[in-house]
Amino acid sequence: MSVLVIGGTGTTGSRLARMLPDAVAGTRTPRHPGQVRFDWDDPATFDGALDGVHGVYLIPPVGVVDPVPVVESFLARARLVRRVVLLSSSAVPESATEMGALPSLVRTMPEWAVLRPSWFMQNFTGDHQVAQGVRAGEIVSATGDGRVAFIDAGDIAAVAARALTDPVPHNTDHLITGPEALSYADAAAIITEITGRVVRHRSIGTAELAERFAKTVPREFATLLAGLDEAISHGAEDRVTTTVEDVTGRPARSFRAFYSELLSRTPAG
Ligand SMILES: NC(=O)c1ccc[n+]([C@@H]2O[C@H](COP(=O)([O-])OP(=O)(O)OC[C@H]3O[C@@H](n4cnc5c(N)ncnc54)[C@H](OP(=O)(O)O)[C@@H]3O)[C@@H](O)[C@H]2O)c1
Repeated sequence: MSVLVIGGTGTTGSRLARMLPDAVAGTRTPRHPGQVRFDWDDPATFDGALDGVHGVYLIPPVGVVDPVPVVESFLARARLVRRVVLLSSSAVPESATEMGALPSLVRTMPEWAVLRPSWFMQNFTGDHQVAQGVRAGEIVSATGDGRVAFIDAGDIAAVAARALTDPVPHNTDHLITGPEALSYADAAAIITEITGRVVRHRSIGTAELAERFAKTVPREFATLLAGLDEAISHGAEDRVTTTVEDVTGRPARSFRAFYSELLSRTPAG
């Protein structure tokens, strides 16, 4: 089955595209064979990207308050598509509108799965604000002692690959977590131990964190992000599932293994 991987150059999509031989990676700027132009902001790209495609890995447009209209119009054009796997989030509750309404749209497809991953381990790398904190020696959050079962994007992609290619459609929601719930202080201690460089965690108030975020993202989004941290402080993400092993047959990667491997590839951490 040929699959369009939306966000095919991104954190989970690039890993998924490498796992599926018949994948076409959607990107706003295709540069390589196996990539196709796809832009949520340009519906004229939808038909070309959907050409000959029977399955879609759907990452909704990022930073859009209400993605429902554009996702609805995309799915209306996906006439040949039988199976859609949606990347949602463990932190997005089901709702009648906005992000929380996307799962119900996807469940109208003949075959579907909704992925609800916890927070990505990859947030500790690259440009993410957590990664910036690691480099500065201090991760700042509003999570208090709340714990998160961080998940490796490779494990999310592995679940997505099975959900897209298993002969029997999953037709279910998958709550996907890593193997252990860690506070940011726990994660900082693991990084300190592995790298030998001291990294700490400092928890601040939700309003103060929103102010910090608002320097780089729109205020409405900044408030939403800080609110997710506050939910973590109340235990919203303190849970572990066996989804990765149940679906793929191998256990989810631990944070320690993830960070050790990262360090072996990029010694600066
Ligand atoms: N980070 C977490 O901890 C976490 C946890 C749970 C769920 N999630 C979910 O994961 C998703 C995003 O994850 P991420 O932050 O790692 O981002 P990402 O998947 O790396 O997102 C960037 C990707 O989106 C594509 N993209 C950007 N704008 C686009 C547009 N207008 N049209 C089409 N494609 C576009 C980019 O492609 P090009 O630049 O090549 O066009 C790139 O492939 C979100 O839906 C988020 O809710 C994240």
